[in-house]
Amino acid sequence: MNVSEAIATRKSVRAFRPDPVPLETVTQILTLAARAPSGGNLQPWKVYVLAGAAREELIRRVAEARKEHPVGEKPEYHIYPAELAEPYRSRRFRVGEAMYGLLGIPREDTLARLAAFSRNWEFFGAPVGMIFTIGRQMQQGQWADLGMFMQNIMLLAREYGLDTCAQEAWAIWPTTLREFLSIPDHEAIYAGMAIGHADWDHPINRFESERVPFEQYVRVVERGL
Ligand SMILES: Cc1cc2nc3c(=O)[nH]c(=O)nc-3n(C[C@H](O)[C@H](O)[C@H](O)COP(=O)(O)O)c2cc1C
Repeated sequence: MNVSEAIATRKSVRAFRPDPVPLETVTQILTLAARAPSGGNLQPWKVYVLAGAAREELIRRVAEARKEHPVGEKPEYHIYPAELAEPYRSRRFRVGEAMYGLLGIPREDTLARLAAFSRNWEFFGAPVGMIFTIGRQMQQGQWADLGMFMQNIMLLAREYGLDTCAQEAWAIWPTTLREFLSIPDHEAIYAGMAIGHADWDHPINRFESERVPFEQYVRVVERGL
């Protein structure tokens, strides 16, 4: 598989088969992914890999925490701006509508939507999950570096016939994650990621996200203005 194929076939998968992913494969992916560039070669990423009984236990703990905090714990950072401006607001809205539409869940059925969303905290059934953290002192540049590391993982996964879903949804469980994984206070929890074999029979995986036209995000400047 070449890079173009990996990019073209990567999509967020939100239902996985339980088939195991060897930890050896995850190790290989994470080793190569760390060839990602980073400003000043800081390599500011850190990743906690969860499999087997540990993954099960984390899922159980979040389910328990949800009883006390139905809308999550206090996130460590603002996942989105409080007032998401256009056109971003509409883009976000469209993703939600399309996904829940595929599941046949109407807008007003908040409970069913929450139940579908809560599959995030089961890694959508994937046998391996990851939690990404970054030093609290790090700035925007280093968060971008972490994103490149994560993208490498998602693209390499394709080469191994695996699929992924990046999951900022994990950021609302900092207390539970911190306690369970002994994450030190100086690390901020950014996001999680599910990795495994996609369940292509599940309707949610029929979702194909759109992209805005080239002209809307590229400005080619060739001569003086
Ligand atoms: C950092 C990051 C966090 C994300 N968090 C979630 C999440 O918590 N739950 C989810 O279902 N999708 C999540 N996504 C997936 C996005 O919704 C998805 O990338 C976007 O809609 C484009 O679709 P595609 O990945 O299939 O191309 C996340 C993506 C990124 C890059």
